[in-house]
Amino acid sequence: MTPELPPGFRKLPSAERRAFWEGTLLADDDEREAAAAGDGAFTLADLMVENAVGVLPLPLGVATGFLIDGSEMAVPLAVEEPSVVAAASHAARIVAAGGGFSTEADGSVMEGYVYLEGVDAAGEARLSGPEGRAELEAAVRKGQASLEKRGGGYRGLEVGRLPATGLVALSISIDVRDAMGANLLNTAAEAARPVAERLSGGRALMCILSNDSPRRLARARFALPFAALGPFARGLSAAEAARRVALACDLADEDPRRAVTHNKGVMNGIASLAQATMNDTRAVEAAAHAWASRSGRLRPLTAYRAEGEVLHGSIELPLALGTVGGSVDLHPAARAALRLLGNPDSRGLARIAAALGLAQNFAALLALVSGGIQGGHMRLHATRLAYKAGARGDEPRQAAELMAADGEWTAAAAAKALAALRAGNGGDR
Ligand code: MEV
Repeated sequence: MTPELPPGFRKLPSAERRAFWEGTLLADDDEREAAAAGDGAFTLADLMVENAVGVLPLPLGVATGFLIDGSEMAVPLAVEEPSVVAAASHAARIVAAGGGFSTEADGSVMEGYVYLEGVDAAGEARLSGPEGRAELEAAVRKGQASLEKRGGGYRGLEVGRLPATGLVALSISIDVRDAMGANLLNTAAEAARPVAERLSGGRALMCILSNDSPRRLARARFALPFAALGPFARGLSAAEAARRVALACDLADEDPRRAVTHNKGVMNGIASLAQATMNDTRAVEAAAHAWASRSGRLRPLTAYRAEGEVLHGSIELPLALGTVGGSVDLHPAARAALRLLGNPDSRGLARIAAALGLAQNFAALLALVSGGIQGGHMRLHATRLAYKAGARGDEPRQAAELMAADGEWTAAAAAKALAALRAGNGGDR
């Protein structure tokens, strides 16, 4: 039986919606302590989404040891999965020992679209002719004074007909500067709509940005001497570890089923940073996967080659990450996350994200080709099993250590470890 929402839920005062969540769905004090919102957090949640009942306290960790373009850096990650923070930190340290990451990022030009139906050839010509363009530009720029002051704004338009639907696509390019850009682009497209309809004689089907962001790419790379890789090669020679990492990437290039997981690992880092800075994780994911599929086949976002005594790793992907606007400069947690990164602009954040994605992927590949990931994963998973068995405070970690000694990762093993811990004989079972 699902609990019934209180009648008129949508119109209830926010305090009553919150009481429903905390009083009815969070079942006891233990759950409330772990999952209920404080007053400030609830006020923000209520501003940010509709029908707010609370917040979801996602773990926030800090991946350490990054050396990016010569600067040491710690990167905030909000993520529910164990081992993401540890893996990023591990790879960051290895790469730092070999000189660190070099990164770059393009500008922030993205596109908003007006899709028009019922446009004949003459209408299409009016839309793309010089007078039409000037009128459309004026309509778009009307609302962009402050964006232009920040160096952004209108960058041009294109008109084309889509063969299958016959729709005419009017694409408006805008430099969105440090914003993620969705609001700016959607506003621009809607501002162009009446002019586009009048000029073309057609009717708009929709006005919307494209999250495809091929002009907002970021890149990161490292050149890791075998001498720096060697100590982390877990029983392999550095040359063999490097060869296997490169082969693992070739595998992802050949087999799209592997590429899905390979790229998922890349996005473990990037999506967690996007989440920690309250960026739109879905937009970043959608653009990344579209980019990875641009050849018509899903391919890896990273590349590796072993050359001489050096392993080269690189990544390139679109990263539409904002440092202003949206929830980014609204939420104190996101502002604090950006502070930890030295308050980068949008391109700076994209560069960090690219290095992070490469680190995450490198950590995964190195672990996978040198003994597997499951040992490390299960150790981290054990603390969760212990928590579910009732461990609190320091107990989950202590119980996990006992479980590691036995090498057993089950609910029963967690209960047994917790019982042993509480009986005070954790050390001599
Ligand atoms: C797990 O979240 C991510 C990995 O599966 C990535 C990969 O296989 O490359 C370890």
